[in-house]
Amino acid sequence: MEQKEDKLKEVISHAKEYGYIFPSSEIYDGLAATYDYGQLGAELKNNIKSYWWKAMVQMHENIVGIDSSIFMHPKTWEASGHVDAFNDPLIDNKDSKKRYRADVLIEEHIEKINQKIEKEVEKGFKRFGESFDEVQFRATNPNVLRNAEKMQEIENRMRETLGKNDLEGVHQLISDLEIVCPISGSKNWTEVRQFNLMFSTELGSVAGDASTIYLRPETAQGIFVNFLNVQKSGRMKIPFGIAQIGKAFRNEIVARQFIFRMREFEQMEMQFFVRPGEEMKWYEYWKEARIKWHKALDLGEKNYRFHDHIKLAHYANAAADIEFNFPMGFKELEGIHSRTDYDLKQHEKFSGKKLQYFDPELNENYVPYVVETSVGLDRMFLSVLSASLKNEKLEDGSERVVLKLPAPLAPYKIAIMPLTKKDGLPEKAREIFDALKYDFLCQYDEKDSPGKRYRRQDAIGTPFCVMVDHQTMEDNTVTMRDRDTMLQERIAISDLNSKIASKVDMKFLLNK
Ligand code: GAP
Repeated sequence: MEQKEDKLKEVISHAKEYGYIFPSSEIYDGLAATYDYGQLGAELKNNIKSYWWKAMVQMHENIVGIDSSIFMHPKTWEASGHVDAFNDPLIDNKDSKKRYRADVLIEEHIEKINQKIEKEVEKGFKRFGESFDEVQFRATNPNVLRNAEKMQEIENRMRETLGKNDLEGVHQLISDLEIVCPISGSKNWTEVRQFNLMFSTELGSVAGDASTIYLRPETAQGIFVNFLNVQKSGRMKIPFGIAQIGKAFRNEIVARQFIFRMREFEQMEMQFFVRPGEEMKWYEYWKEARIKWHKALDLGEKNYRFHDHIKLAHYANAAADIEFNFPMGFKELEGIHSRTDYDLKQHEKFSGKKLQYFDPELNENYVPYVVETSVGLDRMFLSVLSASLKNEKLEDGSERVVLKLPAPLAPYKIAIMPLTKKDGLPEKAREIFDALKYDFLCQYDEKDSPGKRYRRQDAIGTPFCVMVDHQTMEDNTVTMRDRDTMLQERIAISDLNSKIASKVDMKFLLNK
């Protein structure tokens, strides 16, 4: 646990030191759970957006992208169910005065039991080696079976109580499981209450209910209300998707763990409109497509897993998370939801406008079903940053801190350095910089020893460093150093562009 906290602290301090992420309004001591992306953070964020947009929009003939406004007509949120149902069940510990989401406390308890199962399986592996039959072991080992049954029981009770909004039942479950506050260690809990997560504000100068509007808690509704506009103007045929990247706001009860849970964050969402009855096929399709997109980054296959939702959102008939192994452990990175025809039907009801599609093949009108993929951009950022940050021991006994970002996502692709500040080397280095800057974000760096400059570029994740030396002046070659292997090769300046492109082009990720 301590190790995990240390890792998160390391990521936070590295992000600040190198201009990736700063606490917001820091000169006023910051604002809880709000962060600003610095000069390198903004670049990495843009590259992640671009990776997503290319994969979802550019690579799919039947998916288009929009950019809808943050403010929407207040009826939108009545129709979507957010006014009534976008709540978290919260509970306070009276001793530590800390507030928790009741469902998260229970899920964490379930995860602890799951860990016991995994430990038992690990022991089995160790005991039986090659001949270990994991499936058989899981199906027959008494400890595994007992714990699996326990998990199932808790899950059932949680599903039932939350489903019925039985808050006393949720409280009882927490008592029965003897869940203690991680801070005070006590079981001295308040009752469980519901808390709406939407931020509201006043429109114009008129105060009162009629003018209350909300900051959107998800980008998806901007897509639903534009469903017909896009379908008709783009002559889209079902199945088709609408994608968007944008800010969302939630008054999170427990906003913490750096950029993992913020009150202002960005989502990259895609709603895929399908024929009723075909939604489960597409749900499975998008689950696979999305995990493949994540894994193409090579941050470690084992860092991803699916988690099927126990408590379904008010609009979904199936939902799964792609979880990532963050420094704090496995947590939700992306949600894939089968949202049925709930949203479009609700908007039909509240707006009085038909939101239907005429299917020429079936010769009938219907309200399409929707499968949604929704990934948090900030969480994506944290997954990339935390998995890339490495402390390496080198052969000569020294250490280096290196940010092994996937090269297509790295802010600077190349650092161009003159070996010394004289003999025309800086001018030559600038010439190379000027030739490459049209294709790549480059950094010119002439300060300090080459070793120090390499370390600086390692720490910010620049995949390549080019050194201009005296030989360059004679034969127009440079040394190019690879961040990950630290190997240097001598190459012609005229080959630089294609060499770099072959490593940093986004298409290598997209083709995987
Ligand atoms: N439109 C569906 C929707 O909004 P969600 O599971 O509530 O579903 C989708 O959110 C994704 O948005 C999450 O998987 C997560 O990556 C991101 N997200 C949600 N709340 C967040 C928060 N408070 N801070 C950062 N990211 C958040």
